[in-house]
Amino acid sequence: NTRKTLADIKQLYETKQPIAMVTAYDYISAQVCEAANADITLVGDSLAMVALGYNDTNEIPYEEFLYHIKAVNRGNNTAMVVADVPFGSSELSTEQAIATSIDMVKRGGVQGVKIEGGRNVAAKIKSVVDIGIPVMGHVGLTPQKYHALGGYKLQGNSTESSWSIYEDCLALQEAGAFSIVLECMPNKLAELITEKLSIPTIGIGAGPKCSGQVLVYADMLGMLSPDHKKAKFVKSYGNIYDQSVDSVKQYIAEVKDSSFPNPDEHGYKIKSEVLKALR
Ligand code: KIV
Ligand code: NA
Repeated sequence: NTRKTLADIKQLYETKQPIAMVTAYDYISAQVCEAANADITLVGDSLAMVALGYNDTNEIPYEEFLYHIKAVNRGNNTAMVVADVPFGSSELSTEQAIATSIDMVKRGGVQGVKIEGGRNVAAKIKSVVDIGIPVMGHVGLTPQKYHALGGYKLQGNSTESSWSIYEDCLALQEAGAFSIVLECMPNKLAELITEKLSIPTIGIGAGPKCSGQVLVYADMLGMLSPDHKKAKFVKSYGNIYDQSVDSVKQYIAEVKDSSFPNPDEHGYKIKSEVLKALR
């Protein structure tokens, strides 16, 4: 039951085996990722929205996010666990980025952190890498900047922005990032970037030619109510929301018609002498 490390991720990359990353929120989802043998379990700050109901990822307070990181770590002993550095916990200074990353390792127990951004955060990322914490980059659609991006939109849709994403990736690689998430960009751009880099790319809405893929747990399992709009790049591998509603409805119906619990199957028999004494 040994834990996958950076060396295992490198090995997958060097032998051209796709890297499978999944997000997790808590003990239960981490146990599922472990049982399914994920290479990397990401405690993504998307959990703020999909598991906690915030409007965006930026609203979650650091301590609240850390609580989820700890729960994931209690449920997962085999995947490499990487967690997002949440919004507001690294922007102020390099010192803040280092302090947060150290705290996520010490109190959260993660093996790596993920920081959104490109050239603008490369120096910070280098400082975190220099103290010995593996850092994953994240470019393209970076949800922590969705206000600045004007919403959740396809990125790298012009020559200029394609070059910009590519330059960002080079800067992140130079800074020592061990891999980079490419989110919501044309397949071909992600493919060209992946060819040029010597570190793995992990795609989400970036086509099949990345070094690996990531999906958000609640999205891939169909856990969310139909009120939630599904991005084009999400594939549903489950229908947990409908199954859950059906199951809970059935339970409620059985409570209402008194068919649950079944006295023999779900209940305990009283001893006859005890019953006699009670009467
Ligand atoms: O927060 C998240 O789930 C993520 C992944 C989509 C990469 O950042
Ligand atoms: Na994230």
